[in-house]
Amino acid sequence: MVQINKMLIELAEKRKTTRKFTQEKPSLKKILDVLEIARHAPSGSNKQPWRFIVINDSKVKALIREASEKGEKKFYKTISKKRRLAYKAMGNTWQKPMLEKAPILVAVISDTKAPNYRPSVWLSIGYIILSIEAAGLSTVTYTPSDPDIVRKALEIPDFFQIETILPIGFSADPKRKKPRKSLNELVFKNQWNKLLAKQ
Ligand SMILES: Cc1cc2nc3c(=O)[nH]c(=O)nc-3n(C[C@H](O)[C@H](O)[C@H](O)COP(=O)(O)O)c2cc1C
Repeated sequence: MVQINKMLIELAEKRKTTRKFTQEKPSLKKILDVLEIARHAPSGSNKQPWRFIVINDSKVKALIREASEKGEKKFYKTISKKRRLAYKAMGNTWQKPMLEKAPILVAVISDTKAPNYRPSVWLSIGYIILSIEAAGLSTVTYTPSDPDIVRKALEIPDFFQIETILPIGFSADPKRKKPRKSLNELVFKNQWNKLLAKQ
């Protein structure tokens, strides 16, 4: 295996979601390094429909938490008790303290006028998440239940859309990485459902 692949595989294997952070502040330079990688992602017609807001102001973080929790409270009222308990087991409730407690938030915003804006922006988010791991930092891909409430709170024009808000910092979350399906279960050869591993 060539060296670069080994490094990427190690990063991908090690990366896991973090919802609790220490108070140590990552430098803005590190965050910009991460976004420097994100801006190289491919996009439909190369429109680069991503925008990023880097937030370290506690008042803005509180505003984002308040707006997000408004949407979460609404959402949690619509789901069954079973689903609510399943979310709780994963560490999710309507409360989002990580939005205030993480030292930095990065809001990732898409330009809905661009072709294929969602897959394009989510590719850049994939780049960001792996780069955050490479920078020795951690994050959670928080997708607000009602992103429009957050968009309005941040006074973002309505043809832009909030895709995710990434709380970023140093992990204080001891939980282990969740297991993944093996390639043997996932990869077919030449036709649907013909497992490559079985040949
Ligand atoms: C598209 C997407 C949306 C997600 N939305 C949320 C979210 O709103 N809140 C949250 O706490 N985690 C969210 N996650 C994190 C997942 O729960 C997490 O990645 C998954 O359980 C696998 O765990 P791992 O990242 O530790 O490997 C999201 C992840 C993805 C990729």
